[in-house]
Amino acid sequence: MVKKSGVRNAAVKVKTAKKRKISSTLWLKRQLNDPYVISAKKDGYRSRAAYKLLEIDEKHHILTSYKTLLDLGAVPGSWSQIAAEKVGARGRVIAVDMQDMSSIPGVHFVHGDFTSPEIQEIIKALIPTKADIILSDMAPSATGHNLTDHLRIMGLADEVLEFTKENMNRGGALLIKLLRGGGENKYFNELREYFKEVKYIKPASSRGDSREIFIVARGFK
Ligand SMILES: C[S@@+](CC[C@H](N)C(=O)[O-])C[C@H]1O[C@@H](n2cnc3c(N)ncnc32)[C@H](O)[C@@H]1O
Repeated sequence: MVKKSGVRNAAVKVKTAKKRKISSTLWLKRQLNDPYVISAKKDGYRSRAAYKLLEIDEKHHILTSYKTLLDLGAVPGSWSQIAAEKVGARGRVIAVDMQDMSSIPGVHFVHGDFTSPEIQEIIKALIPTKADIILSDMAPSATGHNLTDHLRIMGLADEVLEFTKENMNRGGALLIKLLRGGGENKYFNELREYFKEVKYIKPASSRGDSREIFIVARGFK
């Protein structure tokens, strides 16, 4: 009996390992054929996420003429690279992430969890004149359960909004990533109370099969 269940467990393990192998092979195949991954390598960006920000900025001009920028969930750093290029010379770029990031000229990196009060105090001390633009590409590691992933990212988004209310200059802009799942419209409407213009955007470089969606909010009241 014991032996039998051991055999069954072994079979499950082989099946899981095989499944994992197939999914990582598919991931690798997709990466190798992804035009944005290829361009990121060519253009010297740390990830394909660079093109999402470039595309959004081309349409909404959020990175021009601003002085202090916060990049939340910055690792590996492609958004910070762009932010440093666009506003770095005239302003400040503060990048925050739970994971460590190799340095980028013109970017001040804070290593820690954005939701921790200590980390928020460190960020505030670095932006005594408040932020003009806040980017959040933060995403908790995916569980694969859509509702759980949605609720977790909405929890982070609430933290970002609370921080924004206290620490953004008038006229400022927020770009935030969400995962669709039902709670995004309530969040969108809440943003409308604090910003003059709020829009959803799904850049072409965001994979069509992903539930991610961005909100651009401009003109902080
Ligand atoms: C999609 S990646 C960001 C990619 C980045 N925008 C780029 O262009 O390279 C999401 C990041 O959010 C970070 N993250 C998730 N939750 C966080 C939290 N509570 N505090 C800080 N960083 C967080 C993760 O560690 C991860 O590096």
